[in-house]
Amino acid sequence: EFNEKESLLILLDHARGYYKQLLWEDDEGQAIGLSYFKERGFSDETIKAFDLGYSHDKWDGFMKYASKNGFTEEMMEKAGLVLAKEDGKKYDRFRGRVMFPIHNPSGKVIGFGARILKKADNQPKYINSPESPVYYKSNVLFGMFQAKQAIRNEDNCYLVEGYTDVISMHQAGVKNVVASSGTSLTREHIKLMSRFTQNVTTLFDGDVAGIKASMRGIDMLLEEGLNVRAVVFPEGEDPDSYSQQLGASAFKAFLEKNSEDFIAFKTHLYLKDAGSDPIKKAGTIREIVGSIAKIPDAIKRLVFARECSQLMDMDEAVIVAEMNKMLIEQG
Ligand code: CTP
Ligand code: MN
Ligand code: MN
Ligand code: MN
Ligand code: MN
Repeated sequence: EFNEKESLLILLDHARGYYKQLLWEDDEGQAIGLSYFKERGFSDETIKAFDLGYSHDKWDGFMKYASKNGFTEEMMEKAGLVLAKEDGKKYDRFRGRVMFPIHNPSGKVIGFGARILKKADNQPKYINSPESPVYYKSNVLFGMFQAKQAIRNEDNCYLVEGYTDVISMHQAGVKNVVASSGTSLTREHIKLMSRFTQNVTTLFDGDVAGIKASMRGIDMLLEEGLNVRAVVFPEGEDPDSYSQQLGASAFKAFLEKNSEDFIAFKTHLYLKDAGSDPIKKAGTIREIVGSIAKIPDAIKRLVFARECSQLMDMDEAVIVAEMNKMLIEQG
């Protein structure tokens, strides 16, 4: 007799196998799903390493399969694999999409992301599993199962936005990479990463709005005492598109060359806006010093305060005084 969580994991594993088989063995799956992944430059090995799959464009393909295997519709709904209409009739959540299984760190499938194949105005690009007794979004990082050994070996974790960023980087040989999958970073995410390393490098798509929206998450990494570095991609590129474009060795060289510690990164980013306007510059300094004040280690704080004073061309004593004021305010 299995408890509810165990039963859900068994059902989700059946779903993984079902979607995977459709991708590799079904005519429609091969013609539409597999060729989609190939066009994106994913190799067979990569597709297998991430357990990718395909869902038929039918209302009840998975439901029928799972029923035959003895699962109840109630379980399927609880696992987020089927939905109920108002009249109670149920149907498959994932239809006509390529499937990205989401694994927990020990490799069990706990949910799915599903991407539409062609652009459609009235449909979201990705549909994701809802939360369930085995899937809490705030503590799941996509790719952690495939990345954890490499994160330990490299003593660094790359943090990206999306499923395909993780997959393409892994294929390019940069395997220490996980994605927050479009949700903002939580303390649980950070705790999970810090089981494997104290060093995180965040990779940003090249749009300033997106970068600034991520700042809160980065400050949280600093607060938790992690060492943070950042790389910004050229406008219009993300780690997936850019690694596919450059190829493995040029991509790795790009990461090496463009990674900078977080304080330098934030200073450059905000200085671009502030220019020589003294009021804006003061605001920028306060913003940076606010980040430095979050770092728990006093020695690291002083090192970064010095760096900030150099980059901002501002007396170090003033920076340190401002920082200490903030530390007192924070309590
Ligand atoms: N996302 C989502 N739902 C959406 C759009 C995005 O859940 N409608 C999440 C996905 O996890 C996605 C991530 O946010 O991987 C980043 O979004 P985006 O950059 O738009 O997608 P990409 O990962 O770049 O996907 P692709 O390259 O296939 O367009
Ligand atoms: Mn078929
Ligand atoms: Mn984006
Ligand atoms: Mn993207
Ligand atoms: Mn992309």
